[in-house]
Amino acid sequence: MVPKAELHCHIEGAVSPALAQAQAARHGADLSAIIVDGAYQWADFTQFLHVYDKVASLFRTREDYARLTHDYLTSLAADGCLYSEIFISTDHAEQTGLSPHAYVDGLAEGIERAKSETGIEGRIIATGLRHGGPEAVERAARFAADNRHPLITGFGMAGDERMHHPKDFARAFDIARHAGLGITVHAGELMGAQSVRDALDHLRPERIGHGVRAIEDPALVARLAEEGIVLEICPASNIVLQVFADYESHPFATLRDAGVKVTLNSDDPPHFHSSLANEYRIARDHFGLDDDALTAITRTAIEAAFCDDETRAALREKIGSPAI
Ligand code: ADE
Ligand code: ZN
Repeated sequence: MVPKAELHCHIEGAVSPALAQAQAARHGADLSAIIVDGAYQWADFTQFLHVYDKVASLFRTREDYARLTHDYLTSLAADGCLYSEIFISTDHAEQTGLSPHAYVDGLAEGIERAKSETGIEGRIIATGLRHGGPEAVERAARFAADNRHPLITGFGMAGDERMHHPKDFARAFDIARHAGLGITVHAGELMGAQSVRDALDHLRPERIGHGVRAIEDPALVARLAEEGIVLEICPASNIVLQVFADYESHPFATLRDAGVKVTLNSDDPPHFHSSLANEYRIARDHFGLDDDALTAITRTAIEAAFCDDETRAALREKIGSPAI
């Protein structure tokens, strides 16, 4: 089995429709408008965000998050994944009345349980929501900076890229960077190359969530390669959200051939009928990557991981050296 690693999965986006239904039954909620025939129903990105919020609202305790995280990571481990970074949102926890501390404790407990059972390493990327505005994102950054949990190793921003400008969030990202957190930001998914350039200039990330629409500007592609910016690419997400019409027009292979560091990720797997293993399958079937090339993608992810040197060295060892 090809060893795998994931840098970009939103934990509330990893809830299966079946688990959402089980939580809804416990809380007397009706999900018939958003789950039909066992699948999430939404028509565009705005509706997707609403469905995401509704599902998140059903997770209300530390144990809910411990179980969700444990189940997600053990399923990844069964598919050969050695390392996973989960994106979290303290805003979503607070909206259900769960304290950010209890939320993080639950997530960390799930990570630790999964590690002790399977060996998978997990880390947490705290995120703010762009459509929540600069103050909310700054609050999320301050929480991550002030409450240094050893498993929170990065800060990012998700949400609606069509809203606000990256410069509005510069202070939030400065707070996170000064606290020593790794920096990633969603850009170049719903918006084009200029959005990626603005994110690089104003927020100075090491990694970009998606970043795929950088392909619209060859000079930007060259800059990404030259600066060694790592793209957290989520192919199935891009097709289902219609960022690209089909896998044949997806720029994964072109970006990789141009020397951009690319990784494979599932984003919000059940919403896109995917999984990390499926993303690796897509790269094999549609982008022409063989086992060695897929393993090299995993190596790129491990080198870009927001983890300590000791963990990185142990992961390198598990993957092994490239064939010469
Ligand atoms: N939050 C969850 N999934 C997302 C995506 N694909 N883009 C932006 N924000 C998100
Ligand atoms: Zn995402």
